[in-house]
Amino acid sequence: MTDKVDFDKYTDNYNQLLREGTSFFSSSEQYFAKYKVELVKKSTRHPVSRILEYGCGIGRNVSYLQAAFPGAEIIGTDISEASLEIARTENPGVRFEGEHANLALGDFDLIFVAGVFHHIPPAERPGALALLSTRLRAGGTLCVFEHNPYNPVTRRIVDNCPYDADAILLKPAELAGLMKGAGMAVQGRGYCLFIPPKIGWMAPLEDYLTWLPLGGQYWVKAGRA
Ligand SMILES: C[S@@+](CC[C@H](N)C(=O)[O-])C[C@H]1O[C@@H](n2cnc3c(N)ncnc32)[C@H](O)[C@@H]1O
Repeated sequence: MTDKVDFDKYTDNYNQLLREGTSFFSSSEQYFAKYKVELVKKSTRHPVSRILEYGCGIGRNVSYLQAAFPGAEIIGTDISEASLEIARTENPGVRFEGEHANLALGDFDLIFVAGVFHHIPPAERPGALALLSTRLRAGGTLCVFEHNPYNPVTRRIVDNCPYDADAILLKPAELAGLMKGAGMAVQGRGYCLFIPPKIGWMAPLEDYLTWLPLGGQYWVKAGRA
């Protein structure tokens, strides 16, 4: 079995590797962060005053979360200290914590997770979701984005990306099952990232394609049962 990837070693070239792998789709790697946050914002109907980004890495999603949920307090957590250092420098005023963060339970209206679970060994995934469930406020939302294992292009990108060497992709049904196992109620799921921004005029079509297992990624949303 491949050793767990240490993201401390990829802080210098994380964005560059992401750009190289996805340039056929978007010339800016920031596109993916903005896209995911906007998708979450569009489907969130309840007030959001506290947000946890679990596995926030170098903090690429944080400025978009700030823009989408103005005034909300955002806390980012990750196991990579070097990534957190960059996140702190680039997002002054935002709290970033390591893996043993002592965060209040039941306190987050929104928990945002992007591209993290495929790096968590399968045996540890139930525990990670149980932890996230305890941190979610009743009525709050957990939204998890993952690579779509049914998309051959996504699989090729993952196979060629050095920091995905430990990746074990999970299917949407598997992720939804893990959420249920952690005592959460699954509220929805869908495939996403079909339309490259260069043909952005076709983007409204994405809303009709969420059933089609050919998006680059997928999302699953859950709340506390
Ligand atoms: C592909 S990066 C994604 C970073 C960020 N979410 C983004 O969208 O840019 C995966 C991140 O998950 C973190 N990670 C891996 N296992 C984790 C765990 N058990 N708990 C928290 N973070 C973890 C890694 O350190 C890394 O920063």
